[in-house]
Amino acid sequence: MARKLILDVDTGTDDAVAVMLAALHPALELIGCTTVNGNIPVTSCTDNTLRVLEHIGRGDIPVYEGLARPIVRRDFPIPRTVNDAAGKYHPDALPVPATTLRKQSASAIEFLIETYRAATDPIVLVPVAPLSNIAACIALDPKFVSRVPEIVIMGGGHALGNVTPSAEFNIWGDPEAAASVFAAGFEKITLVPLDATHRALITAAHCRALHALGTPAGQAASAFIGHRIAVHDAHQKQDIAHSTPVHDALAVGFLIDPALITTRRLHVAVETHGALTVGRTVIDTHFRGGQAPNCDVAFDADAEGFAQLLLRTFAGQA
Ligand code: RIB
Ligand code: CA
Repeated sequence: MARKLILDVDTGTDDAVAVMLAALHPALELIGCTTVNGNIPVTSCTDNTLRVLEHIGRGDIPVYEGLARPIVRRDFPIPRTVNDAAGKYHPDALPVPATTLRKQSASAIEFLIETYRAATDPIVLVPVAPLSNIAACIALDPKFVSRVPEIVIMGGGHALGNVTPSAEFNIWGDPEAAASVFAAGFEKITLVPLDATHRALITAAHCRALHALGTPAGQAASAFIGHRIAVHDAHQKQDIAHSTPVHDALAVGFLIDPALITTRRLHVAVETHGALTVGRTVIDTHFRGGQAPNCDVAFDADAEGFAQLLLRTFAGQA
């Protein structure tokens, strides 16, 4: 039986690849997408998510809009430089046709709380964006955490930051929300941080192969990832020329093939105060903090296995 999941997204280019992978791979059943403020305003995230689902023929998957701002910070606008970079990584309108679909009337928070309240099968929660929606569910429903059997988070970093030297964008985008999620006591947390996603680089050659598939998903993935490669080549060159991490899709790939990443069981907490370190995932790699591990943290990934999974899935041959 296919594994059920909900994707919490700030669709963006890599979120879009994650949505297509989750919607098209037979081992997964994407029962809904929830959107949140992040790469771009939440309304644009919603529109992009609807565009992508309709483009691949999965307009049946419902989309629910979530929070438009972090749960605590009001004076925490994404700095122009990051916005510009984020905007360059993540256009307000992805290069796929405008959608004829509409978001659901229920909010993301209502959908998440009600779906887990009524669930009879396990549903994996996969946030690949700032954790504002998840933290809101925790605050509103005391039983939410106990009803989520597994959560797979794309975010954070140990040796790497991207929005600051200390922090990764999803965690930095709502640090108080992230701190509450890692401290909430979820039964099973897998964290896919930059340390792993930057070891699963997708290259321009992979993009050409994706485009050559001739499928809507293959050509869209080629466009989204090609856009990321251009920005990385200009702003944040990778170890492999003309390549990019596709962060969010690796988190979904893990659900299909757990061997795509290598994890260590460690304690993870989030810094919410440091002037230089706010939004940092503090990953206790040497057990110095005296706290029991709460998370399986990925530090390595199988780049070619990941690329081949995308190619097989978007060819319709998964
Ligand atoms: O740091 C990478 C993460 O930030 C990805 O989820 C990307 O979509 C952005 O949200
Ligand atoms: Ca994202």
